[in-house]
Amino acid sequence: MKPEDAHGSPGAPRDSRGIGTRLAHTARDPAANRGFVNTPIHRGSTVLFKTLDELEAAMTANTRTGPYTYGLIGNPNSRELERMLASLDGAAGAVVVESGLAAVSVALFSALVAGDHLLMTDSCYGPTRYLCTQVLAKLGVETTFYDPRAGAAIESLIRPNTRVVFMESPGSLTFEIQDVPAIARICRARGIISIIDSTWATPLFFRPIEHGVDLVIHALTKYQSGNSDILLGAVTCADDAWWKRVKTAAEAHGHYAHPDDCMTCLRGMRSLEVRVARHQESALEVARWLESRAEVVRVLHPALPSHADHALWRLDFTGSTGLFGCVLRAHPKGRAHTKAFLEGLRYFGMGFSWGGFESLIVASDIRGWRIAPAFADAASNEGTLLRLSIGLEDPRDLIADLAQALEGAARA
Ligand SMILES: Cc1ncc(COP(=O)(O)O)c(C=O)c1O
Repeated sequence: MKPEDAHGSPGAPRDSRGIGTRLAHTARDPAANRGFVNTPIHRGSTVLFKTLDELEAAMTANTRTGPYTYGLIGNPNSRELERMLASLDGAAGAVVVESGLAAVSVALFSALVAGDHLLMTDSCYGPTRYLCTQVLAKLGVETTFYDPRAGAAIESLIRPNTRVVFMESPGSLTFEIQDVPAIARICRARGIISIIDSTWATPLFFRPIEHGVDLVIHALTKYQSGNSDILLGAVTCADDAWWKRVKTAAEAHGHYAHPDDCMTCLRGMRSLEVRVARHQESALEVARWLESRAEVVRVLHPALPSHADHALWRLDFTGSTGLFGCVLRAHPKGRAHTKAFLEGLRYFGMGFSWGGFESLIVASDIRGWRIAPAFADAASNEGTLLRLSIGLEDPRDLIADLAQALEGAARA
């Protein structure tokens, strides 16, 4: 395949420029857009051809570099975003779809067939678990949920028909760090496909393809877009053959990324480095403060030395983002205490998703659906498992808010 640009294309030399420079200068072409810095939004379904020859040639051309054929297959905005994502991950290519969950689904559908066995981390995002138990199971794919801390011991779970190992690190809600290089090595040696949901780290802090992973999922809804105003997802692919398989699966299922959303996401990504640096700093400040509070049993933040997998996190990650957990000590008033605390917060909204400019908090009870009950039970029996997404507010205000809500809940 012919390289499409000097960065992130198959076989291209590693980009040595700083991340801010790459975020500012990759995937845009003012000369092709009458000098405008950003590429205009190309809405549309139909693409017109002047001749039958052109139409027929387009139908067999590469859908990443060749002429556009139909809105569903790609447009200048989706291709630009894909170029940026591939560049950041050191991937051969990327496929953008309408949500992070669609990216999980398209990656799994591109890799699995009836009769296959899937090893899925027990710490996966809830709807990923649902996809396995409610959809893949009906299509003849059997899933085994494994302990995210298994590391190389995952080898003992591999069966002759194991086709995919799916990781997510840190894990959803419980923040376990997986030994991604060890698992990826075993997968390569055994001819098994490795996939990771790497939404938490963003490509700024962890690049799984460099550790031997085949497919990487990013929910662009979170930090890349950064404003809680769109849904979008992507799969980045280690090699060209995988890119073709994922792209084919996306087209076959009718997955699509709207050009407005691609443009919105790319706009968000220009400032990704500075935003994530602030999320990181503020989250660490809030997490350290929570650690000092008697109402908190423990904080689940991989960048804190108190985290069980901190050493592993230090080996593979170059930073942390704004999402972490904590366990609020069990209170005699139970749910009423949790309710008073959550409803007493001024700046933390109660709601799903994360990675936006505004801070969020949710409480979860994971008992009953995790296979690694030791941790799930401990976390839930000790108290209320909380997940905090630290936004771009002044961390001093966030800490003051948490303090007044904790004090208010104690009085309630
Ligand atoms: C780890 C993780 N992966 C994937 C997703 C799905 O992303 P989306 O909401 O864009 O479908 C989420 C959403 O919260 C998530 O937390």
